[in-house]
Amino acid sequence: MGRLTGKVAIITGSAQGIGAAYAQGFAKEGAKIVIADVLDGQKAVEDIKRAGGEAIYVKTDVTDQAQCDAMAAAAKERFGGVDILVNNAAVFGSIVMKPFTEYSTKEFMKVLEINVVGQFHCMKAVFPFMKDKGGKIVNIGSSSINEGVPGMPHYVASKGAIMALTRSMAREMGDFKINVNTIAPGFTHSEGGNNFDKNKAMDIPPLETLQLNARCIKREALPEDLIGLALFLSTDDSAFITGQMIVHDGGLSFH
Ligand SMILES: NC(=O)c1ccc[n+]([C@@H]2O[C@H](COP(=O)([O-])OP(=O)(O)OC[C@H]3O[C@@H](n4cnc5c(N)ncnc54)[C@H](O)[C@@H]3O)[C@@H](O)[C@H]2O)c1
Repeated sequence: MGRLTGKVAIITGSAQGIGAAYAQGFAKEGAKIVIADVLDGQKAVEDIKRAGGEAIYVKTDVTDQAQCDAMAAAAKERFGGVDILVNNAAVFGSIVMKPFTEYSTKEFMKVLEINVVGQFHCMKAVFPFMKDKGGKIVNIGSSSINEGVPGMPHYVASKGAIMALTRSMAREMGDFKINVNTIAPGFTHSEGGNNFDKNKAMDIPPLETLQLNARCIKREALPEDLIGLALFLSTDDSAFITGQMIVHDGGLSFH
């Protein structure tokens, strides 16, 4: 029996990258998976099915509360409920780093809308399905908030807000036996991560080189490296942990 047998997990932004790795890792432990993404998630579903798991794709834009509600309703209809939400969808791989003076208010606000408000929408959407039996919410942040990475002030600010949002939601959800935590990864070789160092409009060394040299564990991070902590925060092994941000960056930054 897997550690998540009988559980239903919604993983946003899981058509590719780190989200797809979480989805595969959770499916391997027996969870039924909802792949929720604006991108087509059929390949992620097929990968899980080929490995013997169960998954559906629900096209979801996390900036739209109605679509997030429909995502949670689809999990209930197809799999009987929602036990776990991994709030992973974000603007990341498409960011072109540039000096802060070149960012418009509109660009800045769009990233906050997707990265922060999107997580809020998804938490609101799953709450009705978790409030009577408990649940696990894992919000994906970033260790860039510890380092203060230049060239992406909107992204770093959004990930700082996620840590604060997590603490606030943990306070409200504790009485319902819902744990809410944040994972803060460092630079990772996802599709998004791989694009990142190629597209820059400012003169700074590759993020990966900077981070790799500064890590305690000096090797590249792969999406698969991140699965274990998300699993831990989604099982009862972490039943007495909530409101926390756990840094998952090979010892690049300490928090
Ligand atoms: N890769 C890294 O180096 C790194 C480091 C720290 C944190 N993170 C975080 O990890 C998570 C996954 O990152 P990744 O590297 O796989 O990024 P990615 O850019 O490859 O994937 C992000 C996913 O989110 C989806 N998405 C974007 N906007 C959406 C929306 N409005 N509604 C629904 N889905 C939407 C995208 O379609 C994509 O599938 C993100 O939260 C990111 O901020 C990544």
